[in-house]
Amino acid sequence: MNPDLPKINADPGRLEQVFINLLINARDAIEERWGIAEAGPGEKRILLATQVAEQVVSCEICDTGTGIPANLIEKVFEPFFTTKQAGKGTGLGLSISYGIVKDCRGSIKVKPHASGGACFILEFPVLEKTHGKKDPIGR
Ligand SMILES: Nc1ncnc2c1ncn2[C@@H]1O[C@H](COP(=O)(O)OP(=O)(O)O)[C@@H](O)[C@H]1O
Ligand SMILES: [Mg+2]
Repeated sequence: MNPDLPKINADPGRLEQVFINLLINARDAIEERWGIAEAGPGEKRILLATQVAEQVVSCEICDTGTGIPANLIEKVFEPFFTTKQAGKGTGLGLSISYGIVKDCRGSIKVKPHASGGACFILEFPVLEKTHGKKDPIGR
């Protein structure tokens, strides 16, 4: 992880919800693929990476879980879309996350990971310097 990332414009509490949901989804997908028993080396992994380039901070959360079939990849951000059993998933996590990230003028995308799992990529514009004043939308 890069400890020197520039600031972005976001509500920390809401962003925390986004990351918690992504991490729980990754955990669920890993458990579904590998079970709850101890796995071999590298089998159960959640990988986090951050970087900044061209005034955009990006963060990848990748996992070695089940992955998302190509025909469902468009659907995962829809409200109430879930493949989890009743009582386990509401299907709201990613749709709420999508809204939160949009509110920060960011984006969230998903692509397959080489392990067969999934990779969620978040991108946020770097907060522009406002010469000591509050930023233009007052946060
Ligand atoms: N990391 C992941 N790996 C595999 N499938 C995922 C992953 N994250 C999300 N999904 C799929 O997207 C669906 C929707 O996720 P989400 O909106 O968080 O709702 P929920 O977790 O309640 O099912 C999940 O049910 C699952 O099918
Ligand atoms: Mg979820």
